[in-house]
Amino acid sequence: MSLDKSPAPPSARAAVEQLKAYSAPLEGRRQMLRLDFNENTIGPSPLVAQALRNFSTEEIAVYPEYDGLRDALLKNLEETGCRPGLKPDQVGLFNGVDAAIHAVFQAYGDAGETLLTTAPTFGYYSPCAGMQGMTIEAIPYEGESYDFPLSAIQEALAARAPRLLLICNPNNPTGTRLPADQVIALAASAPSTLVVVDELYEAFTGDSVLPSADFTATPNLLVFRSLAKTAGLAGLRIGFAIGHADVVDRVSRVTGPYDVNSVAVAAAFAALADQSYVDAYVAEVLRARDWTLQALQDAGVRSHCDGGNYLLIWPQRPVAEVDAALRKVGILVRSMAGKPLIDGCFRVSIGTTSQMQRFMEAFLPLEQ
Ligand SMILES: Cc1ncc(COP(=O)(O)O)c(C=O)c1O
Repeated sequence: MSLDKSPAPPSARAAVEQLKAYSAPLEGRRQMLRLDFNENTIGPSPLVAQALRNFSTEEIAVYPEYDGLRDALLKNLEETGCRPGLKPDQVGLFNGVDAAIHAVFQAYGDAGETLLTTAPTFGYYSPCAGMQGMTIEAIPYEGESYDFPLSAIQEALAARAPRLLLICNPNNPTGTRLPADQVIALAASAPSTLVVVDELYEAFTGDSVLPSADFTATPNLLVFRSLAKTAGLAGLRIGFAIGHADVVDRVSRVTGPYDVNSVAVAAAFAALADQSYVDAYVAEVLRARDWTLQALQDAGVRSHCDGGNYLLIWPQRPVAEVDAALRKVGILVRSMAGKPLIDGCFRVSIGTTSQMQRFMEAFLPLEQ
């Protein structure tokens, strides 16, 4: 029997008491070949390193300023094919896209309303829906190639007009792609639903809706972009939400005034000014992806890859064993244990060709 008479701490909101927090195995990753979080595996542009070296103590002492950053993003988007004419008030700044996701749910998701999404998909959407007390309708990808469940999504939109539709395009972890015109058609068909397209990995497919989106015609469309995965700023936390100015305003209302820090801002300016660095990195990842897929096929290993800088592998041995063996030689991958439809595989991020050669040299002997 416990003699502890100390009072219990107060309960949180009911939805939070039931919440299973999103947790990711983030510790102890330094010095390893990190193929577990789909990050840039070689780091950001030298211009970013220079900007950080030039960062002054005065800049550390004052609150951040965001002047010009939205314009810099828009200029970069235009350079990369986005339709011109977007205005700075159509860009929201967030402490990573994770914070943008959180803000969307806080601004738009009420208890009892529905998040429509797909399964399996990025793991942070569900806890955000959960903390608002929302219901989640997650429609599975279809068949062995994990096709986008387009007609089921169309039916759900028409039948239930959910509050939010979240599409990860290309999808993490299946790589499933949905052409931009179909994303826009979904938004046009459901004007009372906020349709959020998470384009974190679009640089690897070119499927972005931004070149063709018209936020006047479809004001319910919101697009996420990040400098984490291609530009190599994951550790600094900066992400963007792009859409109709009124939607961006609503989503920005629920964040703190200085959630994006000055160091991230300085790095973002430098990264956005060096698109050729990002283009070269993306091109190398695509070469490495082809090389890896060929090597897996030659070895008779089951794998799945579509869009994105990652692929799925079904090893002969239990995933936990493979994970541990790779970790022993300094290589991290991500187990997909417990994920619907892909339980039993692991996800490996694609780095450079030489990094993938190192991965294959460690992985293939485990298949014998
Ligand atoms: C699909 C997707 N969205 C959002 C995020 C979070 O991005 P950020 O690092 O910009 O918060 C990730 C990170 O893994 C992701 O895979």
